Amino acid sequence: MKHIILITGAGKGIGRAIALEFARATRHNPDFEPLLVLSSRTLGDLEAISLECRAEGALTDIIAADLSEMIEVRRLAAHIMERYGTIDCLVNNAGVGRFKPFSEITEEDFDYTMATNLKGTFFLTQALFELMSNKRSGHIFFITSVAARKAFRHSSVYCVSKFGQQGLVDTLRLYARKCNVRITEVIPGAVHTPMWGEVSDDFRSIMMMPEDIARPVVQAYLQPSRTTVEEIVLRPTTGDLQDE
Ligand SMILES: NC(=O)c1ccc[n+]([C@@H]2O[C@H](COP(=O)([O-])OP(=O)(O)OC[C@H]3O[C@@H](n4cnc5c(N)ncnc54)[C@H](OP(=O)(O)O)[C@@H]3O)[C@@H](O)[C@H]2O)c1
Repeated sequence: MKHIILITGAGKGIGRAIALEFARATRHNPDFEPLLVLSSRTLGDLEAISLECRAEGALTDIIAADLSEMIEVRRLAAHIMERYGTIDCLVNNAGVGRFKPFSEITEEDFDYTMATNLKGTFFLTQALFELMSNKRSGHIFFITSVAARKAFRHSSVYCVSKFGQQGLVDTLRLYARKCNVRITEVIPGAVHTPMWGEVSDDFRSIMMMPEDIARPVVQAYLQPSRTTVEEIVLRPTTGDLQDE
């Protein structure tokens, strides 16, 4: 059966690994036919991951969109509605971070972070949840963070956006349970991705890798539809990189 799966932030890091893992899942699940709608801002990234997913046997569709702009959020939702008229899975993964001391956060840092992580995620979800609630099936993943539960000294605005995402997850669950839609919050600690820029070898050696997050996401999706994996918490074995 064909599964329409939209992954935001699919061009790099965790989103890219999730796309590839969905595509590879076809190897062991012959009945699973993913149609991966891959989105981020950078078309070149999307073309590259699309080719890799196709090589694994998945169908793909790419659409560049900047989720910090409401007009683009609406365009992405309209693309799904007009081209497919349905959606089985939304992976809310696109996210940004500006990491610096509290006193140095500017209004532009605040708006940049909140526009993508919170506003874009909120309204994309609102638009696509309706398609799922109408057909009484679907699955929405939110890649939040341990910073949605715990404060880190250099992550003030990132924490605000991620705590906000957690509020969205908890509220949406109240609606989703009533219409048979599955909601999974994925809560990773430090993962080695482009979001971190350059990191020291010491940090790199203890960080998780994007595929460590992707595997449990796809396993959660492939659970029988009667079962929801509500939370997936993943941390480096040695704990968070910075504790305060
Ligand atoms: N890495 C970690 O340690 C970690 C830990 C916990 C949670 N997370 C969360 O996991 C998610 C993915 O993070 P990552 O580490 O994989 O980051 P990443 O490597 O920087 O990748 C982020 C992806 O999101 C896209 N993106 C960023 N801003 C966007 C926007 N305005 N509109 C559309 N797409 C946008 C990026 O592509 P373009 O720049 O081309 O748009 C890219 O494809 C984020 O929500 C992050 O907060 C990460």
